[in-house]
Amino acid sequence: MSGVREDGASSKHHAHMIGGDGPNSYGRNSAYQKELLVPAHDLLQQLISKHLDTNNSTHDTFRIADLGCSVGGNTFFAVENMIGAVERRYESDRRRVPEFHVFFNDVIGNDFNTLFKQLPAARTYLAAAAPGSFHGRLFPKESIHLAHCSTALHWLSRSLESSNKGRIHYAGAGREVREAYAAQYKRDMDCFLRARGEELVAGGLMVLILIGYRDGFVLGSDSSIGESFDILGSCLYEMAKMGKIGEEEVDCFNLPFYYPCGAEVEAVIEANGLFSVETLTEMGAPMKGEADPATLVGHMRAVIGVLVEERFGSGVVEELFQLHLNKTIERAREKPFIYESRHREIIHFVLLKRNNPS
Ligand SMILES: C[S@@+](CC[C@H](N)C(=O)[O-])C[C@H]1O[C@@H](n2cnc3c(N)ncnc32)[C@H](O)[C@@H]1O
Repeated sequence: MSGVREDGASSKHHAHMIGGDGPNSYGRNSAYQKELLVPAHDLLQQLISKHLDTNNSTHDTFRIADLGCSVGGNTFFAVENMIGAVERRYESDRRRVPEFHVFFNDVIGNDFNTLFKQLPAARTYLAAAAPGSFHGRLFPKESIHLAHCSTALHWLSRSLESSNKGRIHYAGAGREVREAYAAQYKRDMDCFLRARGEELVAGGLMVLILIGYRDGFVLGSDSSIGESFDILGSCLYEMAKMGKIGEEEVDCFNLPFYYPCGAEVEAVIEANGLFSVETLTEMGAPMKGEADPATLVGHMRAVIGVLVEERFGSGVVEELFQLHLNKTIERAREKPFIYESRHREIIHFVLLKRNNPS
């Protein structure tokens, strides 16, 4: 049976990025995500300068949270950008710059040990971990002044368990599957916003950097994300044919990623009602230029290697990604899918302000 079961069956996953600093680690395979933080830097500077209220008396200690920080230099880069912007704003208001307390959040399986070993020695902030899912509460009420979440909110809290024969994602799938993903995304975003609504101070700011699409776009195989997932799916089915994994298991394996269009993001924020949208804009898309298959597959493995292992066992990961690499090289030779025209994804840069509780 193809489609989504009426009970909308789904299961929580416990995936995280590949830790450590080895060749397959997220830290060494996250140039794509870093590319987004660079254009975000300028926007952040302008918008924090415009929207941050330095009159807020709770600012003796200024608390920042990076949600879905993972491991590696990207989170430190983002945190330093934010601190730089906040400092400049305080200085231009001729106010004493507060102390900074930064919370690094990710799921509990994240490699926090490696993260904290790599903390920059010359930092100007105190650091703490906030382990747990950002779909629920992480911090005391009204304690956070600035939250940031980059390329993490496309992770759904659960994987759809229903049969989606021939595919491992909604890209190119039928309406039923697409709608089930969209509904899960809405629920997850609402949980995320409700939790942050409790935790941010009134007037507190939140920056979201989201991978998504333009309004009206239906994600198919004619996009780099869709094509990559199609290739990975075909590798899993090939391994099933070889008897290494069960075919039915592949039918029910759905990657828990959703890529919204701007209108969907806006609608869910509006329905939640706790934040006002100060900015929702399209930022330059990443990886516009050439990207070699090894980089693409390395990135994919760092991000979903643990998810695959959780589902199919550790024995399949090496072979799966080798197969994935071979097929990606083959496909790139036949019809280079790294062309700009196939890069349909865009990046939404969103700045939210916590409304004053009525
Ligand atoms: C692609 S990485 C992005 C990491 C980092 N923000 C960057 O820009 O490089 C996405 C991160 O989000 C984390 N993540 C996914 N779902 C999460 C959740 N529910 N709560 C906290 N972190 C989550 C993943 O574990 C992963 O580390």
